Amino acid sequence: MTHYKELGLVNSRELFQKAMKGGYAIPAFNFNNLEQLQAIIGACVETKSPVILQVSSGARKYANQSLLKHLAHGAVDYAKELGYAIPIVLHLDHGDTFELCKSCIEFGFSSVMIDGSHHSYENNVALTKQVVAYAHEHDVTVEGELGVLAGIEDEVSSEVSHYTKPEEVEDFVKKTGVDSLAISIGTSHGANKFKPDQCTRSEDGVLIPPPLRFDILTEVEKRIPGFPIVLHGASSVPIELVKIINANGGKLKDAVGIPEEQLRMASASAVCKINIDSDGRLAMTAAIRKTLTDNPGEFDPRKYLAPARDQLKALYSHKIINVLGSADKA
Ligand code: G3H
Ligand code: 13P
Ligand code: ZN
Repeated sequence: MTHYKELGLVNSRELFQKAMKGGYAIPAFNFNNLEQLQAIIGACVETKSPVILQVSSGARKYANQSLLKHLAHGAVDYAKELGYAIPIVLHLDHGDTFELCKSCIEFGFSSVMIDGSHHSYENNVALTKQVVAYAHEHDVTVEGELGVLAGIEDEVSSEVSHYTKPEEVEDFVKKTGVDSLAISIGTSHGANKFKPDQCTRSEDGVLIPPPLRFDILTEVEKRIPGFPIVLHGASSVPIELVKIINANGGKLKDAVGIPEEQLRMASASAVCKINIDSDGRLAMTAAIRKTLTDNPGEFDPRKYLAPARDQLKALYSHKIINVLGSADKA
């Protein structure tokens, strides 16, 4: 067993308390490799933002759990080397079983999500409660989920969304003892968050998605005042990145995300954690495609991964400063 404190990591409890009081959200960026991690830490140190490093079960399979653990440990030293020791949380994204959450806790994660949202309400409560009991023995924080996000690009999502029922949140939080709650108010995973027929089109043909259900968020806040809320599926799918990808051989059709001004509004509310993965994937892919189009003879991975890392770092800094409001909060 490695306890996360031995790795220099923190859990999310105090970060969420501060975010709630300060009206901002902590960035939760997914990572699978070295370049993503370098970009995340670089951006967070430069902007002095706390950060949640997220590892999905797909990331764990892709990168290997031991390597990820040591990368996160290394990130703590890397931040100091860059000049500022920001608080770093290592979080399991969309854990789906007790065993997976337990294994991550034993491996040095400081926070886990147990996503029981696909189960019946009763089974979600029972599973979440079991994870909380084990996690809290180790001072690890737990995120639960109520409501189902739609999404078509990953293993953890459903074709259709089911909004969170505000009348369930109080009972869920009380029965399970979770530290934060992910809710469904119209966000979804991936780069095609809405079907074109759910959107309107601007004069220049850009898809405009339906607004998030802030009425549900407000109702949730009324029922569990001061309780940290999490938004998944919060990439904004920048049209400039989609255009670069498509101009350089990509074929992303009808990509659409959540407008940043709505995420800014959410960050000022009880939303304390905002999950962003797809925008990072788009930034990296855009830079790699463009670099290879402009330099077809290039075959040194560092020559296309370095610009990808720069683009990623710029994207993360932008999110921290202009969307989440977590700059200078570390
Ligand atoms: O919510 C899902 C995250 O974007 C992780 O995606 O399962 O493809 O690693 P993944
Ligand atoms: P996006 O696909 O919108 O980036 O959402 C990521 C996420 O919710 C990770 O859990
Ligand atoms: Zn998610």
